[in-house]
Amino acid sequence: MKKTTAAITAVGGYVPDFVLSNKVLETMVDTNDEWITTRTGIKERRILKEENAGTSFMAIKAAEDLLQKRGIEASEIDFVLVATATPDMPVASTAAYVASEIGAVNAFAYDLQAACSSFLYGMSTAASYIESGRYKKVLVIGADKMSSIIDYTDRTTCIIFGDGAGAVLFEPNEEGLGLQDEFLRSDGIGRQFLKIDAGGSILPASEETVKNKQHYVFQDGKSVFKFAVSNMADVSALIMERNNLTKDDVQWLAPHQANKRIIDATANRMGLEAEKVLINIDRYGNTTSATLPLLLYDFEKQLKKGDNIIFAAFGGGFTWGSIYLKWAYNS
Ligand code: UT7
Repeated sequence: MKKTTAAITAVGGYVPDFVLSNKVLETMVDTNDEWITTRTGIKERRILKEENAGTSFMAIKAAEDLLQKRGIEASEIDFVLVATATPDMPVASTAAYVASEIGAVNAFAYDLQAACSSFLYGMSTAASYIESGRYKKVLVIGADKMSSIIDYTDRTTCIIFGDGAGAVLFEPNEEGLGLQDEFLRSDGIGRQFLKIDAGGSILPASEETVKNKQHYVFQDGKSVFKFAVSNMADVSALIMERNNLTKDDVQWLAPHQANKRIIDATANRMGLEAEKVLINIDRYGNTTSATLPLLLYDFEKQLKKGDNIIFAAFGGGFTWGSIYLKWAYNS
């Protein structure tokens, strides 16, 4: 019997209108466009300014865009997964709210948190549900309102992150397209280098934690950079090797958009030409869980049925991995 694979059959996206450029950041902290561009590849990022709007606001927009493009009713969706490091609230499931708001009345929903690898892990989860035969339509949304956890007086983090959301639909495929292989890893040693100290069960919120700015992202950039460069390149090379893929067999690298230098190092290790590397970090910065689906959203028209895509991500925890996927449609 032919194996059922899990393919991406539609993509949606949303980024807020407000643009925060390097030039404007120059007026906020001691930095400059030249430093940000050469060290990270970022020129501008989007910031969600709507009042009382959280991550779900963007997730809903991305999901609605996808449903409209795919031409299906939300009631057909079996499962809604929201990959995010910035849920609307610490406890109530953001995914449950998103599912209800889009009208996915027959779905169950939950959030998945693995920092910048959330969407990559979410793809694996979605594909497993499809491959098992248990569900037919799985919506995976990667969304983060990073501006809600960034200290805009800290130049080491505020230049990096942005807000956005992307969504993909996974469905069964009988032509062997979709997710082919995955290599997922984690290492708890990483939490000292990239974290938010307070607001969790170890250090609940207090006047003190607010005063000490412990609810913002802390990153030891240099250390994270070292781990990210070697691990993202390693898993990308490994997944190629394991699937007997040469550089000519790979049409696209879809890498997490944390730093252009990390992306270049990964592409170099894979032997890929620059034209095969999907990049939008210059326009959005690091949107955490939204980087991978926003790449698909931006470059969808260039992706052709049968194209081999390697996804790779690295994030807080540490968490990282790669996924080999065959694209399933022409748009
Ligand atoms: O997505 C989750 C995973 N995260 C990542 O993968 C991020 C990994 N890390 C990075 O991308 C980079 O480490 C950063 C972009 C965060 C920093 O770049 P770097 O080349 O590692 O810079 P650095 O931290 O080594 O700092 C170099 C210098 C320092 O000055 P001194 O000590 O050499 O005088 C910093 O104080 O640059 C200074 N600096 C800045 N200068 C201007 C740090 N931030 C800035 C800034 N503008 N925004």
